[in-house]
Amino acid sequence: MVTSKSVLVTGGAGFIGSHLVEKLVQLDYRVLVVDDLSTGKLRNLPRGVSFYHTDINESTIEEIFAREKPSFVFHHAAQISVSNSVRDPMKDCRINITGTIKLIEAARRYGVDKLIFASTGGALYGDPNVTPCSEDHPVVPLSPYGLSKYACEMYLDLYRRLYRLGFVALRYGNVYGPRQDPRGEAGVVAIFSKAMAEGKPIQIFGDGRQQRDFVYVEDVVNANLRAMKEGIVGSFNIGTSIGSSINDIFRILSKQFNYKRTPIYAPARPGDVWKISLDYSKAKKEMDWEPQVDLLRGLELTAKSFMESSTYPTG
Ligand SMILES: NC(=O)c1ccc[n+]([C@@H]2O[C@H](COP(=O)([O-])OP(=O)(O)OC[C@H]3O[C@@H](n4cnc5c(N)ncnc54)[C@H](O)[C@@H]3O)[C@@H](O)[C@H]2O)c1
Repeated sequence: MVTSKSVLVTGGAGFIGSHLVEKLVQLDYRVLVVDDLSTGKLRNLPRGVSFYHTDINESTIEEIFAREKPSFVFHHAAQISVSNSVRDPMKDCRINITGTIKLIEAARRYGVDKLIFASTGGALYGDPNVTPCSEDHPVVPLSPYGLSKYACEMYLDLYRRLYRLGFVALRYGNVYGPRQDPRGEAGVVAIFSKAMAEGKPIQIFGDGRQQRDFVYVEDVVNANLRAMKEGIVGSFNIGTSIGSSINDIFRILSKQFNYKRTPIYAPARPGDVWKISLDYSKAKKEMDWEPQVDLLRGLELTAKSFMESSTYPTG
């Protein structure tokens, strides 16, 4: 009998992780998921995965690697809130830096081929001098969250040089799509979609002209699959090269939900980036990756999924 390769997805019960898990199961990988369910949900997981309910900082991680010997690790478990990282940098450091080092160490010890890391494009380059900005742009994070993601990239590069551990860091733009959790302050598309589905008021921080690079979750999953290919190594922007304003998102979603209310504008949040978009030409050239789902289509698919579960389950 041919046994398919084992792959481990940390944070696999979360938004992006669960879409990736779904795809990997379809592709017949033996999928292991590690998640502490701090924001992830068991119901996000398809049948047929082996689930380990644990924090990446626990010693059980070592046992899981020893027993399962995964070939690839997709590392999505993280503290994902920029503002929480400013409020509690120690917690951000424990989960996002120490937790990642634990995984990298286990990956090295148990012969993982490659670790694919969910990094950030939005929180790494500060307010970029040029948009779209490429990977060569100076790294000037405006939060502990951005800094911790960069520290992990540096650890991965160190482990590549010291031990030849393969790695790819995918610097995501603002990922959106079905199953994104509308609670918390990240994920403006999910937050707007939930409020619109329920006819509730919507608040926009600042004048709404600030721009982000919105990338659809399915495209992000495809970038993870391309990153598995032998010879692909290093850091890659995963975005669309297009900056869309928060007002644009509000306007498009309003039409899709037939939402008639006007937004309430609140003071801008300090530390928020003004305008950013990510040049993905390196990913195109080296991984043959390009986004396939444009903003209108992606928002349509997302709106549809929120309408189908018009009160987003909170359990
Ligand atoms: N959503 C975006 O726009 C975006 C942009 C850039 C980078 N990222 C990165 O992508 C990854 C996934 O983000 P997401 O939007 O799917 O968030 P998410 O909160 O839905 O997923 C994170 C998952 O990790 C789990 N988790 C958190 N801490 C853990 C710990 N200590 N041990 C084990 N599991 C833990 C959570 O329960 C959750 O299932 C994160 O690393 C995030 O920083 C996301």
